[in-house]
Amino acid sequence: MAGFLDQIEPVKQSALAELQAATDLAALEQARVNHLGSNGKFTALMKQLGALAKEEKPAAGKAVNSAKVALEAALAQRRAELELKAALPQEPTDFTLPGRRRALGKLHPLTQVTEDIVRSFRKIGFVVADGPEVEDEYHCFDALNTPADHPARDMQDTFYLRNAEGRMQNEETGDRTTEHGVQTAPPAPPASTLLRTHTSSVQIRVMAKQPPPVRIIVPGRVYRRDNADATHNPTFHQVEGLYVDRNVTVGDLKGTVEFVFKELMGEETRIRFRPHYFSYTEPSFEIDFSSALTRKMGKEWLEIAGCGMVHPQVFENVGYDPEVWTGWAFGFGIERIAMIRYGITDIRLFYENDVRFLKQF
Ligand code: DAH
Repeated sequence: MAGFLDQIEPVKQSALAELQAATDLAALEQARVNHLGSNGKFTALMKQLGALAKEEKPAAGKAVNSAKVALEAALAQRRAELELKAALPQEPTDFTLPGRRRALGKLHPLTQVTEDIVRSFRKIGFVVADGPEVEDEYHCFDALNTPADHPARDMQDTFYLRNAEGRMQNEETGDRTTEHGVQTAPPAPPASTLLRTHTSSVQIRVMAKQPPPVRIIVPGRVYRRDNADATHNPTFHQVEGLYVDRNVTVGDLKGTVEFVFKELMGEETRIRFRPHYFSYTEPSFEIDFSSALTRKMGKEWLEIAGCGMVHPQVFENVGYDPEVWTGWAFGFGIERIAMIRYGITDIRLFYENDVRFLKQF
């Protein structure tokens, strides 16, 4: 018995040494076969157990078993080490080489200008509001006091989606001649959905949802049926502004616009208002501005925005009492500001996403 127990440790030690000495997975497998395989040296030791006297078996079995557990653990650990080694690159790595750089992206110039505009308005207490790009005629036109015969509502001037009956707005609705040969009036079209032509629709959505006062700006995408050229694109961006409170004046409007444009276009920027017409404001104005940037483009004044005092009918439409509340609104194109600011002469460059263009801003 003592002889058998004494054999275990040397066999175990030589097995451990061989497992440890293996430098690749093939050598490790060979070491395993040599010791733990069916003809292995350690396996031979286990085979002797059966020949031992009955009273010797428990102690001998325990000793052999714990040696086997130790060998299997050593085998598993060495295998993990060698597998990791096999997965690593065979060539030595030069950690002093410069790394592979990932090209850093940038914000799109339109995003940068939008963020600058929003930042300026935030300083004076405006919050950003949002509304759907797929709008209905009511929010885009009717509620803004835009008459049904206004050309902005023409099929040619915007993109209409299917109407409530699943028909395109211009689909033929059938013969309208009665049996007496009388032409009947065309049926009133159901409310249509369209791609919004301006962000002014969000004025209505915000006012219909909350009581005054209101102080919002609305950056967003708008759509018109325009052919793309150097200064037009069927999709572009606007920023709408709306301020409603008691005793709001054109002076507040002018001061606000002046503050923001000086921030955007430089301290020496001047603005002027010209009388104009919008159905949702009265009086209405167009805003021109003048700065080093306009002079660089060969002009003293450039038209940049539309604005005015909110029309009493618009207040009525959203349930605000026009005898109590006053307000102003404006809207301008973000592309136009970006083009003037960066001296870009073709609006289409904004949408091509050519990195050679984009990385200049
Ligand atoms: N919605 C006008 C446009 O798309 C811009 C505009 C003009 C917005 C006057 C306003 C406004 O809020 O008061 O051309």
